Amino acid sequence: MAKASVKVIFIDAKGRRTETVGKVGESILDVAQAHDVNIEGACEGSMACSTCHVIVQDPWFDRLPDPKEEEEDMLDLAFDLQETSRLGCQVLLTEDLDGMELQLPRGNRNVLLG
Ligand code: FES
Repeated sequence: MAKASVKVIFIDAKGRRTETVGKVGESILDVAQAHDVNIEGACEGSMACSTCHVIVQDPWFDRLPDPKEEEEDMLDLAFDLQETSRLGCQVLLTEDLDGMELQLPRGNRNVLLG
């Protein structure tokens, strides 16, 4: 059976929205990279950077499983950290995240954006 599609909307620092569609089981980082959204993901999901940082909007943040301790440790190093920050490589799409909106941070430790 084909995996369900999940709509994911990225909002950049200037407020521009990019609507994308991913599949259940893909990470936010996978979806961003497949659609040329400006998330670096320097360590390719091995939790050794924080350049995949995204800020999850309500009400989707509360639907996510809690982050592992390693994710929290990496997030502490993220630029522009917010209450609802997560690492994009650690959040996997599920059907109840359909329509999720993600704010991109104003920069990361390697690049300052817009
Ligand atoms: S890509 Fe490096 S921690 Fe997510």
